[in-house]
Amino acid sequence: MITMDTPMKNNLLHIIFGMATFMIVIQISSSSTIFGGPGDLEEQLMDTMEEGTENHLAYHSRSYGINELGSMEDNAWQMVGKKGNQFVVNDQPFYLNGFNTYWLMVFAADQSTRGKVTDLFKQASSVGLTVCRTWAFNDGQWRALQKSPAVYDEEVFKGLDFVVSEAKKYKIRLILSFINNWDAYGGKAQYVKWGQAAGLNVTSGDDFFSHPTLRSYYKAHVKTVLNRVNTLTNITYKDDPTIFAWELMNEPRCTSDPTGNKLQEWIQEMTAYVKSMDPKHLLEIGLEGFYGPSTPDRVQFNPNTYAQQVGTDFIRNHQALGVDFASVHIYADSWISQSISDAHLQFTKSWMEAHIEDAEKNLGMPVVFAEFGVSSKDPGYNLSFRNTLLNTVYKTLLDSTKKGGSGAGSLLWQLFPEGTENMDDGYAIVLSKYPSTSNIISLHSSRLGIFNSRCSWKCHWGCKKKPTLETFLYHDEL
Ligand SMILES: *[C@@H]1O[C@H](CO)[C@@H](O)[C@H](O)[C@H]1NC(C)=O
Ligand SMILES: *[C@@H]1O[C@H](CO)[C@@H](O)[C@H](O)[C@H]1NC(C)=O
Ligand SMILES: *[C@@H]1O[C@H](CO)[C@@H](O)[C@H](O)[C@H]1NC(C)=O
Repeated sequence: MITMDTPMKNNLLHIIFGMATFMIVIQISSSSTIFGGPGDLEEQLMDTMEEGTENHLAYHSRSYGINELGSMEDNAWQMVGKKGNQFVVNDQPFYLNGFNTYWLMVFAADQSTRGKVTDLFKQASSVGLTVCRTWAFNDGQWRALQKSPAVYDEEVFKGLDFVVSEAKKYKIRLILSFINNWDAYGGKAQYVKWGQAAGLNVTSGDDFFSHPTLRSYYKAHVKTVLNRVNTLTNITYKDDPTIFAWELMNEPRCTSDPTGNKLQEWIQEMTAYVKSMDPKHLLEIGLEGFYGPSTPDRVQFNPNTYAQQVGTDFIRNHQALGVDFASVHIYADSWISQSISDAHLQFTKSWMEAHIEDAEKNLGMPVVFAEFGVSSKDPGYNLSFRNTLLNTVYKTLLDSTKKGGSGAGSLLWQLFPEGTENMDDGYAIVLSKYPSTSNIISLHSSRLGIFNSRCSWKCHWGCKKKPTLETFLYHDEL
């Protein structure tokens, strides 16, 4: 990232923003032929939002406004920040349509599979996806990043460097997670094994949260990742705007302490630790979003009664100092019933609405639905159901976005490039195989693009003064 603290900077920014505005107008005008006349594009886009599940966009590469300013380079590629309930970048809102692909680092570590990472980012950007969540860990396993505490495989780290540098080429930002709650890629169980090997008296996976030595292992890993200098770009991770946010852990649960105290203390300690070293990046926990003991009136929204006993607590956990936004996962098929039914869609909507409301009223932060999807292996599954699920998530979010609410984005679980189907657990979406799904994703990107570029777009049509962000965020003109 280049920064210039001279008067030149302002002029340059002026020119860049001028050009950016111009390009957005061009892009919006040209894509508007799909929808009708350019004049009331915005209105028509919003109208199409009410039309339900089908649309008639052809699946092809398109432009999505501000995020595709390829030649604008580093001055336009700023760190994403937060203002109230919204993400912001370059003084504009940043609503995100994104995805998960967890294995990128491991694929990138090997020259023979590295190309899949590029394929994926290219395909994701062709449907306007702008954020990818992936693992910045692989502990003690095959192709481990961390082979043992504080011992790293440089080849695998270079793989992660590649993921970060390649993401930027396609204007995709990353959420990087530091560890898994589950055993895949090592997880907290691997830290406990390391502790045992070092002679600690630790037995359960949850000792990961409480034992001071295991906490220190985790902190050492965080410190290593934050201070990593990317071998391809020379940018230190903690300074790199390509990284959208850090995530403490994938789906933390601490069933050994249903009061939630053990996990709460761990979260508080680790958010403070990350923020002390990297105050610039956004930070989230990685929770699934279950309501816990601090909000007995909200547990009714949980998918089942077990959910309030896993040691997590959506509201209390997210009140920890240093947490910037809330994360929620949505898995009706693993939480309610594996058999597909309309109840899954109803749950999805009410689960989302409850969390959006809490993020607005109780937390004062954005909320990202960081994993959602459905497995093709579920009984009763068909493509039309998956498409309806996506539409349900997107529509629920847009209802919030239109009002300037806390619903800030969603990340599909999960997007794969062609030729990686052997990794598919049933949830993978390969865009070229499912044009109807691609169209739904693409249309949602277009709609968010309108919100994200709206500010400068309006300015182009003669605003003397740039409307303040608040005007955009809180004045509901739609
Ligand atoms: C190991 O920890 C357990 C539970 O914390 C405790 O009951 C036990 O006495 C400890 N064993 C040793 C050898 O310290
Ligand atoms: C990174 O820094 C090294 C040493 O300062 C320099 O030789 C190299 O050219 C730089 N690479 C990039 C991509 O900037
Ligand atoms: C797809 O699955 C849903 C849910 O199981 C079902 O209601 C619907 O009829 C199915 N549609 C088709 C076209 O098979």
